Amino acid sequence: MTGRLPPAKNTGKESPAPVSRYLVKSFGCQMNVYDSERMGDLLAEAGHVPAAGTDDADIVVLNTCHIRERATEKLFSDIGRLRQPRGAGDLRAPRAGGKRPVIVVAGCVAQAEGEEIAARAPDVDVIVGPLAYHRLPALIDAAKSGRAVDIDMPAVPKFAALPARRHQGASAFLTIQEGCDKFCTFCVVPYTRGAETSRPLADLVAEAEALVAAGAVEITLIGQNVNAWAHGGTGFADLLHRIAAVPGLKRLRYTTSHPRDMTDDLLAAHRDLAELMPYLHLPVQSGSPRLLKAMNRAHSRDSYLATLAKARAFRPDIALSGDFIVGFPGETDAEFADTLSLVREVGYAQAFSFKYSPRPGTPAATMPDQVPEAVKDERLAMLQAAITEGALAFNRASVGRTCEILLERPGRKPGQLIGKTPWLQSAIVNVEGARIGDLIPVTITAAGPNSVEAIPLARTRAAA
Ligand code: 5AD
Ligand code: SF4
Repeated sequence: MTGRLPPAKNTGKESPAPVSRYLVKSFGCQMNVYDSERMGDLLAEAGHVPAAGTDDADIVVLNTCHIRERATEKLFSDIGRLRQPRGAGDLRAPRAGGKRPVIVVAGCVAQAEGEEIAARAPDVDVIVGPLAYHRLPALIDAAKSGRAVDIDMPAVPKFAALPARRHQGASAFLTIQEGCDKFCTFCVVPYTRGAETSRPLADLVAEAEALVAAGAVEITLIGQNVNAWAHGGTGFADLLHRIAAVPGLKRLRYTTSHPRDMTDDLLAAHRDLAELMPYLHLPVQSGSPRLLKAMNRAHSRDSYLATLAKARAFRPDIALSGDFIVGFPGETDAEFADTLSLVREVGYAQAFSFKYSPRPGTPAATMPDQVPEAVKDERLAMLQAAITEGALAFNRASVGRTCEILLERPGRKPGQLIGKTPWLQSAIVNVEGARIGDLIPVTITAAGPNSVEAIPLARTRAAA
């Protein structure tokens, strides 16, 4: 037997039910953020309560990401820290009985490296993949008599088995689609998240309505290939129209899209739906026509640019964003220069760039001509400088614009709040009497590469 549940805690009131404190640590993408929240919902439904931090948690879920880096090594060091029992002499609050927490490894590393984790980390009690976590409470229970592993990729989606959402807050993620059939040669997602599956329309509308009833004014639809969503003859553009019509919803976003699935009716939705924010995250990965083929991207540089031109025709102010990989196997200086020229040609408002990281089991990992780390570093720095330049230009061009911002967190200075513009810029504003979660009208007054400054519209008028 490798794992044991910690001693049951008592609620202290009428109910003698055992209660454990749980902590879900999320790594990686927004899909994992959603999954972490849902694992929290499951544990709460099973009667457990959130822990204040790692030190007082009885159950720790590490919801891992496998997309880049040495995720597995990082995971083993996290596990190493967790398995130390707290006891006498430990300045932090000792865990009851000096026991370590139940350790759950979830997410894409669990899916891809489940066996290695089982062999190398005997203290891990539960290993559960991203398609099987609806069984988490049962797996924790089963771990009382030995490690429980579930890395099945069932055809029946887990969503139907999840409890009602407990999400509170003005902005919420909603997973509508999962998995990927595209098989880009660098990417591990098709192996960890499985084939593309779409959730039924009625379930999504119901979840969106529940989120709005709980206070959400903004919903971001998420999926590895969000715009590949299709169910029972309904396509993604229709889904956007349907969700945008949910009463009380003010803002709708979606991410991440694949260029191949950017249909005209989807682009037209950016013109037709006031709730759909003028922002499009459309990863391209490289500006080199040859590398796009080697990456199996199923789009060309020209078709990608044509899609963006169409998006701008439908919605002239649309903010464009993308993902880039530098140092894909065989990438020459000239091919990297193609990426730089694409960045300058598009004028992204924002973009994310990564050094190519060989993923075990993917075709690119064994391609010849792997690019030396130092070359990747140099290219990444050049690319990031070009992206920053573009972001600054975009932000500067927005100075003078009037828009609403959705307040989402306090700023660094007293009285400051930070909100998001429709173009997903972080806007810093000094405002009295407003709260996190409010949508307030502002004028953008100044710009930097990572944020803009704004003043509330009422103050602009009063000052005029
Ligand atoms: N190496 C580096 N970056 C990667 N991405 C996906 N796989 C890899 C990899 N093996 C990046 C892509 C993708 C984003 C989510 O992560 O740019 O769009
Ligand atoms: Fe990975 Fe490509 Fe699928 Fe995106 S489209 S998840 S990069 S395989």
